[in-house]
Amino acid sequence: MARLGILTSGGDCPGLNAVIRSVVLRGLRRYGDEVVGFLDGWRGLLDRDTMVLDWRAVRGITKLGGTILGTSRTSPFGPSGGIERVEATIRSLELDALVVVGGEGTLTAAKMLHEAGIAVVGVPKTIDNDLSATDYSFGFDTAVGIATEAIDRLKTTGESHHRCMIAEVMGRHAGWIALHAGMATSAHAILIPEQPTSLDEISKWVLSPAERGRTPLIVVAEGFVPSEMGAHYHERGLDAFNRPRLGGIGEAMAPMIEERTGIETRATTLGYIQRGGVPSAFDRVLATRLGMAAVDAVHAEALGSMVALRGTDIVLVPLTEAVGALKTVPQNRYDEASTLFG
Ligand code: F6P
Repeated sequence: MARLGILTSGGDCPGLNAVIRSVVLRGLRRYGDEVVGFLDGWRGLLDRDTMVLDWRAVRGITKLGGTILGTSRTSPFGPSGGIERVEATIRSLELDALVVVGGEGTLTAAKMLHEAGIAVVGVPKTIDNDLSATDYSFGFDTAVGIATEAIDRLKTTGESHHRCMIAEVMGRHAGWIALHAGMATSAHAILIPEQPTSLDEISKWVLSPAERGRTPLIVVAEGFVPSEMGAHYHERGLDAFNRPRLGGIGEAMAPMIEERTGIETRATTLGYIQRGGVPSAFDRVLATRLGMAAVDAVHAEALGSMVALRGTDIVLVPLTEAVGALKTVPQNRYDEASTLFG
């Protein structure tokens, strides 16, 4: 029997509630554990703001989007944080280990806490699918499904008006959502941060389908910038980590493409729609399996590790490996998709 603390931190993601439920039920049924939930990520841990997670609290939540615990981009090492404060909470609640569910930033903080002697196990989450130690992260499949449905809709209105349509999807450093949603919707161009591309090249991919009587469709990741434009496109300032708040590159590119091609062009930014709502069946299953494996890892004393999907298996990888380098779209996956551009 152990006392576990769990928190969800960083941008939310469909599947978080499935992780929470499986941690609680696996812990309770297999080991007789008690689970304490921290509200709003690291903020709840620093402020000792908690909720009891028993079987009643997690009843029926697998299919719910968001996170019943709330989330924030607070860092445990921020101005009101620090290792002593984290330790004090853990001591006062008599916790044996923390299950930390998050992306790159959150798992880096978890790794630092582990190095400082705190018992931590990580669970990867990001719709961007850019964590290198896991084949897929939950949330990604749902985001691709939502983007695909939305782009299918953009195509029919584009066809009626003989317009070029640009769909902008999330993906700060990695173009996974754009690659998958773009392939699924037969986009004439998929623009991702990993592949610098000029407006002239993009315009050729727009003109070619138009000449065949097709409606040009561009899928662009928010982190992409045409070679001519240089730095990240962001008009929304910086976030809590001083990172540019992205969104709007599609809108910025639309008049440039229209000017070069003479084809009326419209852009739509899908934004947070991709992160909200019910998780897909794939994400529910993955999240549930990861949650169970995290509890097993605590009891196997595999602390400082992260649960991950490799092929169809759930495995443990050291947190240091998990946050080493981002998983960007490799050249061969882009080349494969680009055969069908234009
Ligand atoms: O979770 C990653 C992500 O979806 C990025 O693609 C995006 O730039 C970021 O979150 C935006 O999140 P927020 O505005 O909630 O900080």
